[in-house]
Amino acid sequence: MSTQSRIAIFASGSGSNAEEIFKYFQGHASIEVVLLLSNNPEAYALERAKKFHIPTLVFNRKQWRESEIVLEWLKEKEITHVVLAGFLWLVPVYLIRAFPGKIINIHPALLPKFGGKGMYGMKVHEAVKASGDTETGITIHEVNEQYDEGKILHQSKCVVTPNDSPNDIAQKIHQLEYVHYPRIIEQWIKSNPF
Ligand code: GRF
Repeated sequence: MSTQSRIAIFASGSGSNAEEIFKYFQGHASIEVVLLLSNNPEAYALERAKKFHIPTLVFNRKQWRESEIVLEWLKEKEITHVVLAGFLWLVPVYLIRAFPGKIINIHPALLPKFGGKGMYGMKVHEAVKASGDTETGITIHEVNEQYDEGKILHQSKCVVTPNDSPNDIAQKIHQLEYVHYPRIIEQWIKSNPF
């Protein structure tokens, strides 16, 4: 058994958050990113991982829902912590039970607002814009068996002006994510290492 904490990142799309996490933990004394997994063979996140020499694995819906192959892969790589970074599929119960308190997610709004099924990516920022809210932000939370109800570890806010388009909001959110997600992951792992 390794004495390092070993992260697997799940990402479905661009993977800009995943890349910030790769950079942050490069050369880290006790935490290593060892795997990037995706449900989407076209995800740019896979290219980003390759640039950082991080092994990648892709799975399909049947493997995810009807087998425990992904869990087998995580065990083979001795993964201790799972980080969701723009990952769009619901995490099955067998995986949550295998990593109790060891799965973290980032949501691009201030939960419990603008959360739940169907609320991801630009849909969240469009809903924020349509609501007329004058602020939004990010929520970093543990993943448990109740969708979007895991313990909140961190929230930070940004202003939404009347002129902001959903795209402008997305950019502000990404900046907050890049600043906070890697450091909150580090704190969370250090307080809960293996
Ligand atoms: C991020 O805003 C994340 O909060 C959300 O999806 C987006 C993913 O962006 N869940 P990227 O793939 O990390 O660029």
